[in-house]
Parts: sequence; structure tokens; C-alpha cells
Amino acid sequence: MASASQGNSATAAETARQTRMSERTPATTPTEVSVRFEISNLDFYYGAKQAVFGLNLKIPKNKITSLIGPSGCGKSTFLRTLNRMNETIRNTRVRGQILLDGQDILEMDVVALRRRVGMVFQRPNPFPKSIYDNVAYGLRINGYRGRLPDLVEHSLKRAALWDEVKNSLHKSAFALSGGQQQRLCIARALAVDPEVLLLDEPCSALDPVTTAKIEELMFHLKDSCTLAIVTHNMQQAARASDFTAFMLDGKLIEHNETSKLFTTPQDPRTEAYITGRFG
Ligand SMILES: Nc1ncnc2c1ncn2[C@@H]1O[C@H](COP(=O)(O)OP(=O)(O)O)[C@@H](O)[C@H]1O
Ligand SMILES: [Mg+2]
Repeated sequence: MASASQGNSATAAETARQTRMSERTPATTPTEVSVRFEISNLDFYYGAKQAVFGLNLKIPKNKITSLIGPSGCGKSTFLRTLNRMNETIRNTRVRGQILLDGQDILEMDVVALRRRVGMVFQRPNPFPKSIYDNVAYGLRINGYRGRLPDLVEHSLKRAALWDEVKNSLHKSAFALSGGQQQRLCIARALAVDPEVLLLDEPCSALDPVTTAKIEELMFHLKDSCTLAIVTHNMQQAARASDFTAFMLDGKLIEHNETSKLFTTPQDPRTEAYITGRFG
């Protein structure tokens, strides 16, 4: 499926682009930036069904990497392999290697791994607790010994939520709007100071104004964190990320700097997808 439809009535712009395409050099993985995750020959199975095929990818430090591709292509599955969240699903199997700062994540203590690699999901999922206790939760279970109120405040500030909630920290998290709940979940994930934050379609349930807030917050988080984000929204990938990886049918088709991937895709399937010919 999904080969670029040839023989469409090519517009002038398309023709110009095709000319430029033929002059291009092959895509390269970013080597000039340091790497946080190095994924090699990754296969993933749900029972007998293979969902990820031989995936190779380097995720650079202190950058935002977007994963794009049509629904069901394996984006969430791949993202969940990075903190072994798939292990919570029965009868799954992973093959290949995932190195985090050079260390094999399959050999790590899984709790320690998830402290280093936090995750935020599509639907905000605050705990049925106060705003304060949501953020303090991870710190408490990790036996944090510092001053909790200071760290809760710091985390809420990093998640660009502090000003909106500082006078209602002991109210239920469910009293917040959807966008505030999502930022609360980001604050909760940030409280344990992860090196990496995985975000699986974090804005798909949010309005455009709130989406813009989350994108701005991601931009600021780059200084202290590496981000990998699954997005269904190509404009979001183009606006918000430094690198973009395009997946199709469980395979990584192309990975490049975002500006290059969107202006000069190397693979006809990438081009077909980003120009809206399928997906
Ligand atoms: N828990 C699961 N059990 C069995 N198959 C699954 C499960 N989750 C996802 N899949 C399958 O794996 C493939 C990839 O799904 P997913 O990673 O959710 O794709 P995406 O996030 O790109 O929409 C799909 O064919 C999907 O049906
Ligand atoms: Mg998904």
C-alpha cells in the first residue's frame, strides 16, 4: 500500500519539488548532536502479530523528536518500548537493542528506567487526589527527602501551570480543565526529573489555544530534557520538533531534521503522507 501515487496531475510546485528531490543527497541520521536513545533492529510483537519491524533510530539529547505516520502504524507501540511500558501488556515480546546513554534498557531495573524516562498519555489521567498530591506522588514513592512543597512548585512552574493553580493546590485535580489536567500530568512526570519525556498525542484532546501552551512548554523543556512526541498532527510536528521520524506499517521509513523531512522528503511514501495523499 501507500506508494506515492504517480501520474497525478503534477502542479508546477510539485514539478519544482521533484526537480529538487532528484538533486538531494540521501538522508542521514543526526551525528553532530549527542544521542540519548540509540535503538537498533527493534522488533515488537503482540502475541503472533508483529507491530514494529527492524527499527533503527537515534534520538538526540535536548531535542524534540516527533513520530508521525498513519493510525495503527506502530507509533505508540514504539514509544512505549522506550520505557518498557509495553511489558504491562500480556503476551508481548521485544527483540533488538535500546540503549539509553549507552546502557541497555532491558537490563535495567524497570522502576529506575521509568524514573529516567517519563510518559504522558493522550487523555490526561490525573489521580483522584489534590493537585499538590498528584505532583508529589512520584516523589513520595521514590522516597524523596528534600522539601516537597518547593519541588511541587518547581515542577508546576516547569509545566507552565503554577500561576493558574498556586492558590488552589489542595483542590481536586478533576476540578481543572482538560488542558490544565494535561499540564498537571506533565508536572507529575517532571517531578522526578526524568532525562526523557515521552508524550503520546498529548494535545489530541485539547483546543488550539491549550495546544499552543503545551507546545511552548515543550520548547522550554528541551533545555533540561529530551522529548519524544507522537503526534497525529503534521503541523504540530513541523512547528514543534527538531527531528521527525515517519513510520508506516511498523517500519521507520525516514528520519531527518524536521525542516528537511517536510520540505525535501527522501522517500516517495514520506512525500505521499506529508502531502496528504493517504493517512
Ligand atoms: N494491546 C494490543 N494488543 C494487540 N495489538 C495491538 C495492541 N496495541 C496496538 N496493537 C496493534 O499494533 C499495531 C500498532 O498500533 P499502535 O502502536 O497503537 O499504532 P499507532 O500509535 O501508530 O496508531 C496496530 O495494528 C494495533 O492494532
Ligand atoms: Mg497511538
